[in-house]
Amino acid sequence: MTETASRRTLHITTWGCQMNVYDSGRMADVLRPLGYQQVATQDADMVILNTCHIRERASEKLFSELGRLRALKESRGGAMMIAVAGCVAQAEGAEILARAPHVDLVVGSQAYHRLPELIAEIEQKRRAVIDTDFPAAQKFDLLPEDQASQGPIAFLAIQEGCDKFCTFCVVPYTRGAEASRPAAAILAEARRLVAGGAREIALLGQNVNAWHGEAPDGSTWPLARLLAELADIDGLARLRYTTSHPRDMDAALIAAHRDNPKLMPFLHLPVQSGSDAVLARMNRRHGADLFRRIAGELRAARPDIALSSDFIVGFPGETDADFAATMRLVRETGFALAYSFKYSRRPGTPAADAADQIDEAVKDARLQELQAVLRDQQHEFNRAQVGRSFEVLFTGSGRHPGQSAGRSPYLQPVVVDDADIAPGTLRTVKIVQSNPNSLMASLTQEQIAA
Ligand code: SAH
Ligand code: SF4
Ligand code: F3S
Repeated sequence: MTETASRRTLHITTWGCQMNVYDSGRMADVLRPLGYQQVATQDADMVILNTCHIRERASEKLFSELGRLRALKESRGGAMMIAVAGCVAQAEGAEILARAPHVDLVVGSQAYHRLPELIAEIEQKRRAVIDTDFPAAQKFDLLPEDQASQGPIAFLAIQEGCDKFCTFCVVPYTRGAEASRPAAAILAEARRLVAGGAREIALLGQNVNAWHGEAPDGSTWPLARLLAELADIDGLARLRYTTSHPRDMDAALIAAHRDNPKLMPFLHLPVQSGSDAVLARMNRRHGADLFRRIAGELRAARPDIALSSDFIVGFPGETDADFAATMRLVRETGFALAYSFKYSRRPGTPAADAADQIDEAVKDARLQELQAVLRDQQHEFNRAQVGRSFEVLFTGSGRHPGQSAGRSPYLQPVVVDDADIAPGTLRTVKIVQSNPNSLMASLTQEQIAA
């Protein structure tokens, strides 16, 4: 397209999950042909706040940032466009405009391909616009093919939305029904990412392992098959997928961890709780035993696999015995990494109306107890890497001069004292020291993997 207008400036602030980070990149891709270049907030003609609704605190960030932007907009006599995108936009579109009249545009997570028309509409009609429809076609395949390079580690959305309706979660309402992109579109995007410098691709979806996409021959592929096809792309060295649901870990996907050498030995598999009673009330549709069985099968398929997970403490009705079951599951499983949260009541979700809400003080105590164990497990996992050798994908320079940094197969940041390693290079290193959140390593050989 050659409709490049005069130079316009844009800033996108992103909260929330990796899908939002990916979406923000795609919004920038949509706006680039209109002349929008990315700058700092204070220099931007247009500011997009890409929001997260998952917990109360995440949503509150929007209104505090809108307060700050209001002052900035007023100092410019109103010459600034403020857009709210993402999951709060989807959930609370009208309330945002009522509470913050200086907002010009509310755009839900499914309408980013329409940004150019929405901006034109605001400019012509000089009034605020709201678009929170869920269109029939999938937004990812309506977005431009031209993408800015994400560097050696790239994200690729293959699935969006969720049909699981866990009773605590807003995602089915903010992202809509589960939809899988067709395999051909995904493979084409992966090839473009690799041509643009990606060596590692993380497939994204709210329920990524529920992906079942249309194959080029019209049949339907499961995720394991898509991973096998992606592994055939020359120049692509590593594959991941996130976030998975235990219910959708089928036998073929577990076998892929044995058979697909590009699939990294690290899986984020949220379990939320170790108590069957809590899992049932959460509508997770599985018990703790299913999680234990899958963890065992994954370790049998790929002995060096490490697991990470998400936990919620203080879900309505959670007893001391329920919490003890969670602690037991954590101790038995051993996690390399985990995210844990106090239950947060989200408007419109079933659990928000439950009568047996848990005291904040109890939630706090449980969270601290859980996090202490998870932190120990993470440190122990990192310590266990000392003396091991594995490939690191280098991504740039380290924090100190003369260092290069990259990612281990387990996504840990790895730093070496060598300044000459080009981003995108894979090198075998030996781990010499572990820190809580990173590893120090030395190069063991000069060989660069194909
Ligand atoms: N699709 C993923 C994760 C979605 S949100 C899955 O099914 O697991 C990421 C994490 O946020 C969840 O795994 C859960 O641990 C947490 N979370 C979601 N809703 C929450 C709530 N209302 N309160 C506290 N934590 C929540
Ligand atoms: Fe939310 Fe549950 Fe869907 Fe995950 S599976 S996005 S936690 S409703
Ligand atoms: Fe947040 Fe929406 Fe992601 S609620 S976690 S940004 S799907």
